[in-house]
Amino acid sequence: MSGLNIGIIGCGSIARQRHAHEYKLNPNATIVGFYDFDRSRAESMTLDFGGKVFDTAEELISDSSIDAVSVCAANKYHAELTIDALNAGKHVLCEKPMAISLIECEAMVNAAKKSGKHLLIDQNQRLNNTHIKAKQILESGELGRVITFQSTFSHKGPESWSADKSANTWFFKKDAASFGSLADLGIHKIDLIRYLVGGKVKEVFSAMNTLHKTFPDGTPIEVDDNSVEILTFDDGTMGTVTTSWTNYGEENNSTIIYCEKGTMKIYLNPKYSLEIEYLDGKKTHYEIDRMQQNDDAQQTSSGAIDTFVSAILEDKKTPLDADDVIDSMRVVFACLDSSEKRVPISLT
Ligand SMILES: NC(=O)c1ccc[n+]([C@@H]2O[C@H](COP(=O)([O-])OP(=O)(O)OC[C@H]3O[C@@H](n4cnc5c(N)ncnc54)[C@H](O)[C@@H]3O)[C@@H](O)[C@H]2O)c1
Repeated sequence: MSGLNIGIIGCGSIARQRHAHEYKLNPNATIVGFYDFDRSRAESMTLDFGGKVFDTAEELISDSSIDAVSVCAANKYHAELTIDALNAGKHVLCEKPMAISLIECEAMVNAAKKSGKHLLIDQNQRLNNTHIKAKQILESGELGRVITFQSTFSHKGPESWSADKSANTWFFKKDAASFGSLADLGIHKIDLIRYLVGGKVKEVFSAMNTLHKTFPDGTPIEVDDNSVEILTFDDGTMGTVTTSWTNYGEENNSTIIYCEKGTMKIYLNPKYSLEIEYLDGKKTHYEIDRMQQNDDAQQTSSGAIDTFVSAILEDKKTPLDADDVIDSMRVVFACLDSSEKRVPISLT
């Protein structure tokens, strides 16, 4: 296979700013076309990135010229679109959160296995160079064992990013989004912590609430806008993940890992994306990259599209493979369960 033909379903912010943009920059990918419920959004994409407008998702998925599909639709549709595309013999890069139930996530992984096609989930934080460097340092053992961690993702909310920039966005509606900040932002940090710390999360204790966001008529949104999670790994390592859609200041997307022989600070210092403080007080600073922000006009590549394209062309495994990301979703669903029942939940 020399180059890939791509179809994109869902033509909102992530499709425009990351998927289409990064496919256009990839010499091995050509965009064949777009589909969106809102035809004008698909049309606008063709003007900027080429390709044609499809009339339905089925038409795009069954187009024999298309090798691979990006699923950039609302959360509710991830599983159905992904499974249909896999069954039609396409490789799929699906946006996070993977799907809205564990049964759906499992069906996606099974469909990928059955079809023999690649299924990647866009947990792009695993691809940040700073996170990759942090993982290498942790795995080298120079900081000893991880004892505890704090990871947080907070910003002013999806209504400032979504194609529909209003408090009526689908992100606030249970039917389309299913989850709020915990799964929208927390999945990134839960997945990152699993990636960095390694091992298995054995227990979660979580609380989430709708503290401040409202629909235009003043009624509270239907999903959580803030959450706090305590994760315990099977070796006893324990720490927190916090999420917020009500941080009206500067975005916080940082992680601190406290180890036996030092502390690692990730994306806390705007100049040095990785800082290490050793027990003797010495510090090492790494100026590696900046965390990508949704409202950053100068975004660098997320790396997800290049990873997807090379996974298919070279038929190789990647850090975004659905069969690993599904374990992060197990943690998310356990957190939702814990928050609802107000008890710790163990993952067996
Ligand atoms: N990886 C990341 O960091 C990241 C960042 C932002 C959003 N996302 C995810 O990407 C997905 C899309 O988010 P967004 O920010 O682009 O939202 P958005 O509101 O900007 O755009 C969504 C678009 O999809 C269309 N759509 C929804 N369901 C559809 C369907 N079944 N078929 C065709 N079109 C459909 C809508 O009409 C809209 O144009 C969400 O699941 C979100 O969680 C991921």
